[in-house]
Amino acid sequence: MQDLEIQEHYDKIVISNPETKVDLYIEEFEQGPQGDGSDVYFESKKNKYYVVTGRRERILQTVKITGRDLHSYPSEVQETIKSKNPKTQFLEVGAGLAEFCYKVAMGRKFLKPIVIDPANYELLEDMLTFSKNSLSDKLAKDDSHKILKKRAKKINTLIERCKVYRDPNKIQLYNMTLEDFSRIKELDGIADVVIDYWGPMINNNDNKQELVRRLEYRLKKKKGKLIQAIAYNCSEVIGGRSMRVDVI
Ligand SMILES: C[S@@+](CC[C@H](N)C(=O)[O-])C[C@H]1O[C@@H](n2cnc3c(N)ncnc32)[C@H](O)[C@@H]1O
Repeated sequence: MQDLEIQEHYDKIVISNPETKVDLYIEEFEQGPQGDGSDVYFESKKNKYYVVTGRRERILQTVKITGRDLHSYPSEVQETIKSKNPKTQFLEVGAGLAEFCYKVAMGRKFLKPIVIDPANYELLEDMLTFSKNSLSDKLAKDDSHKILKKRAKKINTLIERCKVYRDPNKIQLYNMTLEDFSRIKELDGIADVVIDYWGPMINNNDNKQELVRRLEYRLKKKKGKLIQAIAYNCSEVIGGRSMRVDVI
């Protein structure tokens, strides 16, 4: 395990990796920064990038790696799991540590899902394990603390997901950006369902969204579906409120 630093604040703990500049935030609040319960998230300061807001201001953003539960995904995505075809190939771009591909993989009803995401899953698992150990020490002294117990449960869930994302028998992980992946041409038209939910479509600025849409469109079969979360404009991305889901 790499050297990690832990800072405890009244409302959150932050675990930092000074070398990779990835921070893990675990917040006290029920609702995460995006208002949907993603209360454990990672930020990579190395991958800082700029987005242009509606008012044309330039604002510094960091890449967040979240792990939404399935119920936070739009109904259009949740419906796809009901498919009766065991040959359905799911592919998620920017899956982070979300539950969707984990659920598909664990259900073993469909083909192994494909994930395209450059996140450092090994580091994420190390950091989560570090926070789990630190919490276990605290809970050993006082196991009546409700928030700590809830946190520990969420962390265990995310560690479990990390393991599945890293297991080639369960998920085909392409640990790279969509842009790098697009150079592997034989993978064009490989998936029945392509999902980008808060992935590169939202993590890129307006200029790059068209490219992302084109690259993701190429991944789906002719009769397949592409489900993308689209932000109306970048100022709303920051607020994390206004977005629509396109099914193509
Ligand atoms: C906000 S998280 C969303 C994770 C998950 N879909 C969820 O809703 O909780 C964004 C994810 O997109 C990934 N990502 C960002 N840019 C990407 C790119 N160009 N290609 C592939 N993945 C990317 C990040 O590594 C991160 O895991």
